[in-house]
Amino acid sequence: MRAVVYSEKGPSSVLRVEDRPIPEPAPGEARVKLVRVGVNPTDWKARSGATSAMEFPEVVPGQDGAGVVDAVGSGVTEVAAGDQVWLYLAQHGRPYGTAAEYVVVPAARAVRLPSTVSETDAFDLGACLGVPAVTAHRALTSGEVPRLGPGTLSGSTVLVQGGAGAVGNAAIQLAVWSGATVISTVSSPEKGALATAAGAHHVVDYRASDAAAGIRALAPNGVDLIVEVAPAVNAALDHAVAANGATIAFYANNGGDRLSLEVRAAFALNLRYQGLLLYTLAPELLEAAVEDVTAAVAVGAVRVGEQSGLPLHHYPLEQTAAAHDAVEQGAVGKVLIDVA
Ligand SMILES: NC(=O)c1ccc[n+]([C@@H]2O[C@H](COP(=O)([O-])OP(=O)(O)OC[C@H]3O[C@@H](n4cnc5c(N)ncnc54)[C@H](OP(=O)(O)O)[C@@H]3O)[C@@H](O)[C@H]2O)c1
Repeated sequence: MRAVVYSEKGPSSVLRVEDRPIPEPAPGEARVKLVRVGVNPTDWKARSGATSAMEFPEVVPGQDGAGVVDAVGSGVTEVAAGDQVWLYLAQHGRPYGTAAEYVVVPAARAVRLPSTVSETDAFDLGACLGVPAVTAHRALTSGEVPRLGPGTLSGSTVLVQGGAGAVGNAAIQLAVWSGATVISTVSSPEKGALATAAGAHHVVDYRASDAAAGIRALAPNGVDLIVEVAPAVNAALDHAVAANGATIAFYANNGGDRLSLEVRAAFALNLRYQGLLLYTLAPELLEAAVEDVTAAVAVGAVRVGEQSGLPLHHYPLEQTAAAHDAVEQGAVGKVLIDVA
């Protein structure tokens, strides 16, 4: 099979396309013939050496993807050959991820795509889910509500910081599906149009000097939950718009690594800061996310493409290095690799 591999950390030029044997699934594992791969910031960060040292002699990058199960190991009941699936954490704790013609994963990490998803976009959609949608799910369930679904967030106002991002897009769609009023911040009218297409009820430019006033005007009692991509630089804004008892769920360090907190103001507001990292999330949180995200997909509440605020950018497998570079350079929307 063709596989994109690297054997040392570094710039995208360390990626090579090589021939490798098709892997065999061990007990409890499923083998998936990939159609589409979703590229996430974590892929280039891990490859560059920014977030981890080389854990295996050779790595195929890629946590996310979608394809068709073509073989399963003994004891697998979750999926069967022929199932169309979306993958999550495919390369977590393992050397070989999704940037290849086949990948073997623990069967629980291959999730059947609902039959209601249209055949034409099933694999595009499936490849966009893993990292962004599971992250968004955990962020949205960091407050008082442990599960998402119709009505679970009714009466809540959710602020999604950076709603034109991949995680932000998933957060908007999942929050809208769950009945929240959603405000999204963005940095340009074009990104505002994407957040609106995702379903955000209101859009505010976070760079405007009166961003907090703009959000307060939309939510006079404050927002109940903030999905935060840039906690350090947005701390003052978050505090200015948080309702009493609000949760700030932060999943990235965009914009800065050190957070300065007005301690008294924070505890006086009964604020909760909840961090999250997919790789260290409790298994039951991952399971809840996978179930709820799949349920949202089944009813068309999570979609991809520009009309849903997530423009897709396709690269052939041979150009995986360019796909990594595009994500690193801040491509707006979702970068996908076409395998088949
Ligand atoms: N903890 C985890 O498990 C986890 C999971 C997934 C992703 N992540 C991390 O989360 C980050 C985003 O991932 P992604 O795939 O969504 O990336 P993405 O598609 O590139 O989106 C990043 C978004 O962040 C926005 N942003 C940056 N600074 C902002 C600020 N000060 N205020 C509001 N928005 C701001 C950007 O908007 P503008 O361009 O308009 O500023 C952009 O829309 C990455 O750092 C990634 O590594 C972490």
